[in-house]
Amino acid sequence: MRYPIFSISHWKCAALWWGGVVSLAFVSLTLVADAIANDPEYAREAQQLTRGAYLTRVGNCMGCHTAKGGQPFTGGRRLSTSFGIFVTPNITPDKETGIGLWSEEDFWQALHQGKSRDGRLLYPAFPYTEYTKVTRHDANAMFAYLQSLPPVSQSNPPNDIFFPYNFRPLLAVWRALYFKAGTYEPDQSQSEAWNRGAYLVQGLGHCNACHTTRNRFGASQDDALTGGQIMGMNWYAPSLSSKSEASSGEWTIEEITALLTTGINQRAVASGPMATVIRQSLQYLSSEDAHAMAVYLKSLSGNEGGHKLGIRFPVMTGSLLKHLDRGGQLYEQYCQTCHGADGKGTPGIYPALAGNRSVMMNSPVNIIRSVLNGGYPATTAGNPRPYGMPPFQQILRNEEVALVVSYIRNSWGNRGSLVTAVDVDLAR
Ligand code: HEC
Ligand code: HEC
Ligand code: HEC
Repeated sequence: MRYPIFSISHWKCAALWWGGVVSLAFVSLTLVADAIANDPEYAREAQQLTRGAYLTRVGNCMGCHTAKGGQPFTGGRRLSTSFGIFVTPNITPDKETGIGLWSEEDFWQALHQGKSRDGRLLYPAFPYTEYTKVTRHDANAMFAYLQSLPPVSQSNPPNDIFFPYNFRPLLAVWRALYFKAGTYEPDQSQSEAWNRGAYLVQGLGHCNACHTTRNRFGASQDDALTGGQIMGMNWYAPSLSSKSEASSGEWTIEEITALLTTGINQRAVASGPMATVIRQSLQYLSSEDAHAMAVYLKSLSGNEGGHKLGIRFPVMTGSLLKHLDRGGQLYEQYCQTCHGADGKGTPGIYPALAGNRSVMMNSPVNIIRSVLNGGYPATTAGNPRPYGMPPFQQILRNEEVALVVSYIRNSWGNRGSLVTAVDVDLAR
């Protein structure tokens, strides 16, 4: 039987014809695409959107403006603080529930001045106290990017703030005392990389939102990154300038960039809220920006701050040694398989506890939290499947946690104050 229309030669013919049509269409599409790409206006806009997307990562806007399991930038995330709960707003370009009606100028006013479109003063739970240093150029790029997102209609519940802080106009007083709109002033005596790093750390990276001591009105004491307890979280953000806390003055640039972008290096691992910052934001830093931040952070040394006053290292008496001995037995039983008998861990997998500054830091709250809650280092492109630590809160009593933590603070050459069951109870 023959089907003439499907004969080989017909097939060839049809294939050639369609091939011609397809390649013609392709050529004309490519021409159109080329014309668009060569249009300088289009190229400028595309570049601005890419920059804006990158900058919102560095500022971690999505981290706060997205609820667990929610759509990106639609807000609804609850932030607990000592003033109550803040609920982040929707910043997608929806006209009713988001910022769809905002202009570039409105957005600038929010970032730079902490004022909403309708003139309402914004709470500093939105870190405009740091973002105020972002340039207009960068703010415009972020605005363009946010406006290019699909609008999502989502109204979020109001903030739930305690009296009298729930009275927004009081913010005028707060601002008069603690806020000054600013710009980043480059330091001419420093390199370009240093200035870029300082601009990112002090401004968009808002590191000082956590790494500072706050007064009872929630105002940061300075912007020197000298460390402090994070408001509303049982975590201590160490000083980034003190040698006994988290200054990177003695680290190499590579060690600093590794910590910032992968969450782990040979000397330290980022845990808790810092692991979140790295997972959501810092791992996306370009290599130039990571380098610049590292150059700046490395220069922040020599500030011993006020946190070290009053540490009392234990004097090793007989009864104390017995006490640490019990901690050592617990360590052998529960911790040694991962962290090693010598406390050296396994590079890149299990952090070393020997020589680890987080372990010896005056404030023991973070390591108590690590032992109680366990945890995972940040999941990043550079460390895609991190090994975790199991929680011990169900397994060890407060006294036992105190013993094992005191032990790791005073073994393998480590030196740190003893931890009591009361400290553990406070950290729970
Ligand atoms: C630490 C959490 C946090 C981060 C990070 C954050 N925001 Fe916000 N943002 C908030 C909170 C909370 C508010 C609401 C403050 C209030 O109710 O006064 C807010 C308010 C805003 C507003 C005002 C919206 C309105 O309707 O008035 C804009 C615009 C905004 N943020 C944009 C951004 C951008 C852009 C970034 C990243 C560069 C960002 N936010 C990062 C917490 C955050
Ligand atoms: C949401 C709060 C928060 C923000 C924002 C934040 N940090 Fe941290 N950071 C912490 C906490 C908590 C720790 C202590 C836990 C730990 O050691 O990982 C920490 C630890 C660190 C460490 C020491 C890590 C170690 O184990 O030695 C460095 C370095 C650091 N942060 C740098 C930064 C930089 C740079 C920024 C800004 C780009 C920043 N942090 C922003 C909370 C924060
Ligand atoms: C299964 C392996 C494993 C076991 C068992 C384990 N850990 Fe860990 N530990 C880890 C990993 C992985 C991390 C990094 C996780 C993180 O940073 O959140 C870690 C982190 C820590 C940290 C934080 C170090 C830092 O630089 O911030 C401390 C302190 C710690 N462990 C102590 C202990 C103690 C004490 C025990 C026993 C009671 C223990 N660990 C048992 C794997 C383990």
